Amino acid sequence: MKNSNGHARTFRRGARWSKRFDGMAEDRGGNETPHIERMSRMYVCREMKIGDYQKVFALWSDTEGMGLSDSDSEEEIAKYLSRNPGHSFVCEYGDRIVGTILCGHDGRRGYIYHVAVSEEHRKRGIARMLLTKALDSLRNAGIRKCHLMVFGANLAGREFWEHVGWQRRDDIVIYSKSIASRGQS
Ligand SMILES: CC(C)(COP(=O)(O)OP(=O)(O)OC[C@H]1O[C@@H](n2cnc3c(N)ncnc32)[C@H](O)[C@@H]1OP(=O)(O)O)[C@@H](O)C(=O)NCCC(=O)NCCS
Repeated sequence: MKNSNGHARTFRRGARWSKRFDGMAEDRGGNETPHIERMSRMYVCREMKIGDYQKVFALWSDTEGMGLSDSDSEEEIAKYLSRNPGHSFVCEYGDRIVGTILCGHDGRRGYIYHVAVSEEHRKRGIARMLLTKALDSLRNAGIRKCHLMVFGANLAGREFWEHVGWQRRDDIVIYSKSIASRGQS
């Protein structure tokens, strides 16, 4: 829905956004979240493409609390994006990528990884906006719950998730096993 200026109408948290970036808007790639169409012209949110990899990886490498592994190679990220189209997003500032979210689902639950915003662009609502885009995309795919993992030592990251309304689970323990080579099951 548009207002008299032709901008998408804002609501709730979007109103906070539009206060911060009043009168400036750009959000490429879908109308699922009209309130975030009212972003700064300087900040553009769009779907992540594999062509973004070098810039995205540079941001991840510079971000504290980010656990990078062999699953973050260009080839692996390309596989992830093609298996989960339309769920991962970047925030661009000029020709830089200043925010990312990797998101996908297994048909039952959604999963979020690598929410990162470069330090000098933090506290402007970029992570919240990327999160809204990703969760809307999951909702549109019929997914009703989403999980994420944060390193226990990443206290700032944990505070962020709690601040934006995510529930910490103490009733679940994660088990992992490398299955790259055949071994005992
Ligand atoms: C955590 C991170 C993604 C937040 O990005 P951001 O763009 O600054 O976050 P936003 O501006 O969208 O903040 C949304 C809200 O969370 C709050 N917030 C942001 N960082 C916070 C933190 N570390 N602790 C508590 N609240 C935080 C903001 O004040 C804002 O509150 P409001 O909307 O009620 O006013 C960013 O600090 C970062 O990249 N950190 C390092 C990587 C990391 O830890 N990622 C998360 C774990 S995977």
